[in-house]
Amino acid sequence: MSKGQFITLEGTEGAGKSTAAVAIADWLMGRGVDLVISREPGGTALGEMLRSVLLDPNTGNLAAESELLMMFAARAQHIMQIIQPALEAGKWVLCDRFTDASFAYQGGGRGLSFERIEELEQWVHPHLQPDLTLLFDLPVEEGLQRAGRRNFPDRFEQEKVAFFTQVREAYLRRMEQFPGRVKLVDASQNVEQVFCQAQALIEPLF
Ligand code: TYD
Repeated sequence: MSKGQFITLEGTEGAGKSTAAVAIADWLMGRGVDLVISREPGGTALGEMLRSVLLDPNTGNLAAESELLMMFAARAQHIMQIIQPALEAGKWVLCDRFTDASFAYQGGGRGLSFERIEELEQWVHPHLQPDLTLLFDLPVEEGLQRAGRRNFPDRFEQEKVAFFTQVREAYLRRMEQFPGRVKLVDASQNVEQVFCQAQALIEPLF
């Protein structure tokens, strides 16, 4: 059986990643792809429980290490229960965030060492990497202005500009490190243009 394709979507706040995800999923399914759509943290019962703790502003200040370990706890469950079985069955997986987000947010944003995160990555998924990662990128201030329209910011959305600047820089560093896998989508374009660019980047996977 042919192995499916694993696509992940990444970006800083307000990059329009979720809007693009819906359009990409519709397009893939329209082309006959047997698609599993998921997200991190989340995707499983355990993952969604951890997600509510991680995103709830009432959780307050978490040790950066606790935050990182919860992300990977959710991820281990997600891979075992959802991602691996789907790919082995020849399905495609479209996942809203994956391990690059841990490098960007817990590494770049919280300042944890990238080496430590790599150790967890090697431990939790030594043989699994996305086939393609779309990095929806735009200037931090612009993204925060867009995201600012949300009424109830989650624990991450409450962070300051400096935090998201570090997140963005860490994402761009991931792209420089893995140019074959991580591809930039210019998220400052309009919705149509963003989707077109994403389509063109996914096309070679067929
Ligand atoms: P998401 O639902 O993509 O939020 P949004 O679409 O509003 O940007 O992701 C939830 C949050 O979790 C997001 O702020 C980034 C954070 N996150 C991490 O900090 N580390 C991780 O490893 C993952 C997967 C997400």
